[in-house]
Amino acid sequence: MCGIIGVLTDRPAAPLMLDALKRLEYRGYDSAGIATLVNGGLDRRRAAGKIAALEAVLDAHPLAGVSGIGHTRWATHGPPTEANAHPHVAGRVAVVHNGIIENHAALKEVLIAEGVRFDSATDTEVVAHLLDRAIAAGRRPEEAMAAVMPRLRGAFAFVVLIEGEEDLLLAARRASPLAIGLGEGEAFVGSDATAMAPLTRRIIYLEDGDWAVVRRTGTSVFQEDGAPVKRPERVSSISGALIGKGNYRHFMEKEIHDQPEAIAHTLHAVIDPGTGTSTLPSPLDAPNVSKITVLAAGTSYYAGLTARYWFESLAGVPCEVELASEFRDRDAVLPKDGVAIAVSQSGESLDTLMALRHAKALGQKVLALVNVPESTIAREADGVLLTRAGPEFGVASTKAFTAQLTAFCALAVALGEVRGHLPAARVTALREALAALPARAGEVLHDDDRFHPIAQELSRARDVLYLGRGLSYPIALEGALKLKEITYIHAEGYAAGEMKHGPIALIDEHVPVVIVAPSDGWFEKTASNMAEVRARGGRVILLTDPDGAARLGEGADHVVVLPAVDPVVSPILYALPVQILAYLAAVEKGTDADQPRNLAKSVTVE
Ligand code: F6R
Repeated sequence: MCGIIGVLTDRPAAPLMLDALKRLEYRGYDSAGIATLVNGGLDRRRAAGKIAALEAVLDAHPLAGVSGIGHTRWATHGPPTEANAHPHVAGRVAVVHNGIIENHAALKEVLIAEGVRFDSATDTEVVAHLLDRAIAAGRRPEEAMAAVMPRLRGAFAFVVLIEGEEDLLLAARRASPLAIGLGEGEAFVGSDATAMAPLTRRIIYLEDGDWAVVRRTGTSVFQEDGAPVKRPERVSSISGALIGKGNYRHFMEKEIHDQPEAIAHTLHAVIDPGTGTSTLPSPLDAPNVSKITVLAAGTSYYAGLTARYWFESLAGVPCEVELASEFRDRDAVLPKDGVAIAVSQSGESLDTLMALRHAKALGQKVLALVNVPESTIAREADGVLLTRAGPEFGVASTKAFTAQLTAFCALAVALGEVRGHLPAARVTALREALAALPARAGEVLHDDDRFHPIAQELSRARDVLYLGRGLSYPIALEGALKLKEITYIHAEGYAAGEMKHGPIALIDEHVPVVIVAPSDGWFEKTASNMAEVRARGGRVILLTDPDGAARLGEGADHVVVLPAVDPVVSPILYALPVQILAYLAAVEKGTDADQPRNLAKSVTVE
């Protein structure tokens, strides 16, 4: 996954593209580059490292030109060096690319046999060579594109700039996102509307298999087979303002503190604050939903695992949660009248998008639960429910996760109500418990000094275990994921009852064990698992409520007491301490919590 921008303008192109790349940095940040046409000829600047490194190169060696393409990279083929940074140039052609050209090795072999020399280890460079050779053989740029597209396999998007063609960008999209922006006598191409937001809000989203000829005066779109096609122009609602960190050190810290608002706003997407009643979004509003299949990756998958408990126990609806990357590799048997819910903060994770398409092919109606309104997953689903977390920039998902949990819980209560599975008094009690969550979350965040000594201890550990049962099990998984992705400390989440079946062998006095244990129906059993850890010298960090602390606090090395809430909504609150601990441990270690190594915010490769 990488971020792509292309501009045809009458202003200096380099600063416009640099600003767009900063907006796209969530898609990857291991190297970056831009190319422009200067007096008709290609010129480029590239740098390994974050956009700031490219900015420094441009400060030292400015780049003129009013037409150009730019790229921020998340390496797939070839390490993140300057030589592998995009744009890649072959003869008259420069290319920026996101995704994977799956048959690049075979194409490269053919090109090498024809005498082509490669300068990088990327899969991208074959596209530049194929186009350059087609143009050198006398084809017009659009003819070259029509000839090359059928030779490429994989899921990708790319934009092409050609020497001598001041008023032309070629753009192509197969599965990976790409959009065209229309300006007044200007035209743009970008991975998303956010990248182009300060430039234009008039957007044409390319569809799968489309490729386009973009000029300042107009854009022509073609389908895979070369047939011209019209795609609608939309007006994007995305703001051009770059969102800042405020007084926080990192976006992650800010986003952790945004959660009371994110939860409140998301709740209002399902429960009308005036009447207290719920409207189920389509297709979940169908009268006889037979099964819910949640499709997601990473943190969004853990939100789905939590939702399974809620859909089963509150609504009596069978539910399975599928890792999006695995779903297509099984012969999943899905029933008639089933609904799939594709959960994704970005709405662009390719695994989740592919799983959505697979679920549709298997006859399921699909609801998208996404945080980005105009994302591909939102556009392809039958219905959309937006989490209202606001833009999330930290690579580690925080407020989008609690917003997903909130939406799921409110949906399950609403389903339980319409299906007659929950008594009216319980519906009211649960809605009240949900409505009280923003205030409870605020209390947790207000009192965050107590996390420092625990985070210090975690930051020194080599391995950390997280345990939870029932509704707290996905929070244990999420806690471990947060810690490992931003501190690089090895961490594992386990169902507390599963520990004795193997992981207990890891426990000694050097392994902190974070136990997520609100005083719910699973509490006694988790307490026994905690005793097993203590008996083996393990250090226990207990996350619980006042009642749990009174019953178990003595047996733990650290106790974090959270406000008492209805156990059903506890995962939403208990997500906060595991995020805070991971964040503070990263600060302790000095790792970059917002842009940890090897990761990207939106993963658009399979
Ligand atoms: C972890 C994290 C990732 C994402 C995953 C799915 O903190 O952020 O695991 O949850 O890449 O991303 P979305 O939700 O955008 O589909």
